[in-house]
Amino acid sequence: MTEVGIDAIEIWTGKLKLDLAETFAPAKDEDPEKYTKGLGLESSSFPDVHEDIVTMGANAAKRLMERRGLEPADVGRIDVATESSFDNSKPVSTYIAGCLEQTFDGDFHHANKGERKFACVAGTQSIDDAYNWIKADRHRGRSALVIATDTALYARGDPGEATQGAGAVAMLISEDPDVAALSTEQGYGSADETDFLKPNQQFPSVDGKRSMQVYLARMREALTDFESVAWDTHPDDFAYIPFHTPFPGMVRKAGLLGYRHMIRDTEIEDELADQIGRQPREEEFDSWEAYEGAIREYMDDLKETEAYRDWYGRAIDPTLTIARNVGNWYTGSVHIARASALKNAAETGKKLSGEKLLVGSYGSGAQAEIHAETIRDGWRDEIGALNVDEQLDRRYDVSFEEYEEIHDVHNHDKETDVDSLTRPAGEFVFDGWGEMNERK
Ligand code: HMG
Repeated sequence: MTEVGIDAIEIWTGKLKLDLAETFAPAKDEDPEKYTKGLGLESSSFPDVHEDIVTMGANAAKRLMERRGLEPADVGRIDVATESSFDNSKPVSTYIAGCLEQTFDGDFHHANKGERKFACVAGTQSIDDAYNWIKADRHRGRSALVIATDTALYARGDPGEATQGAGAVAMLISEDPDVAALSTEQGYGSADETDFLKPNQQFPSVDGKRSMQVYLARMREALTDFESVAWDTHPDDFAYIPFHTPFPGMVRKAGLLGYRHMIRDTEIEDELADQIGRQPREEEFDSWEAYEGAIREYMDDLKETEAYRDWYGRAIDPTLTIARNVGNWYTGSVHIARASALKNAAETGKKLSGEKLLVGSYGSGAQAEIHAETIRDGWRDEIGALNVDEQLDRRYDVSFEEYEEIHDVHNHDKETDVDSLTRPAGEFVFDGWGEMNERK
């Protein structure tokens, strides 16, 4: 059976950098370690005045198409995943296709274009749509372009403000892919939740603490559902486990939850029993409160064990490197986590072909999805071509006053007139409403 999956990846970061310890914390009169240690974030990427979800997505896609020698005729589908859309009718993919047609010979007139929305999980859902389209053999030999692009902004003063970010991830989904083949099995945890939502508003209304509980609850359900159709997951089955990363501190919690779930009924659980006592089981307790107390103590002990720390350092921590420096990219976030993992493997000389990833996507509202991916032989060349480190180094480091001005520029409710802080060249720029042009 032909494998289908991720054939190529490109990343485009917002060109401004907000340093959380040096710039944000002093202005907010907070201890910098709340951000660097507590949330696990060093800085966030921010869009300059001439950037938005269209330009970032188009710039990532342009780089991907140029690098892979693609023409519009090679692409039969453009799916954009975003929760920052500014148009309730025309999908962002049409704006991006319009940009790309300024650069490439030919057009996307025979490509199916759409926009996917389900908070941050929509990027993964778009990959699913492309996968299904290819597996159904409706693609006429063509590939799909999936672009996850967001400006993840919060109202100023909201606790989520420290986790902001902006950027795009473009992915080519093809037959016989170079980077990763997707499993046919998936697990879901999905429920109607209202902890994070934007009903006809640009910035989210968030119950931050509850949003973390909902994330973990849906992720646990998705893991259980995945195991019911795939196989029992064992922590050593996977080279890396990229999770949706609103901020690395959230993934510290997801990692612990995942590990506890995966070691149940394994030899690891037996080995750890001597150190921390047996893993509590819900059915053994008279009340939910008693069970919760026992679980909390067990988890506190579990995260201090050498076995857990080694596993976390190998399978989870390497997925967080880019996120630490860019913040939340919403739909792009889990795809940044995968790219971080593969970058880590390339930099440490790991052999990854044939190894598995377990990918945990999540979107508020709320839905978690778990699937496995098998790494393909072309992964090293593809990841080696990413220039994300250079892009991050080139970002303009904003002062707090500049940050506030730029935040206002991206606030749809405000009229502002501020110049770009960086000088765009060789990229698409936003030149006013409906005007996205290539700046040579
Ligand atoms: P907060 O309430 O200001 O922060 O905002 P806090 O007081 O809870 O502190 C955060 C952590 O820092 C805590 O660690 C503190 O102990 C620690 P924890 O106990 O959780 O491990 N801390 C310190 N550590 C060292 N030194 C210090 C210090 N001070 C505190 N001095 C909150 C946190 C998450 C609520 C906020 O950032 C927020 O509202 N964020 C937005 C919502 C969010 O990201 N939720 C995550 C799950 S939902 C999700 O992922 C979906 C999403 O991506 C959207 C979508 O799907 O579309 C958001």
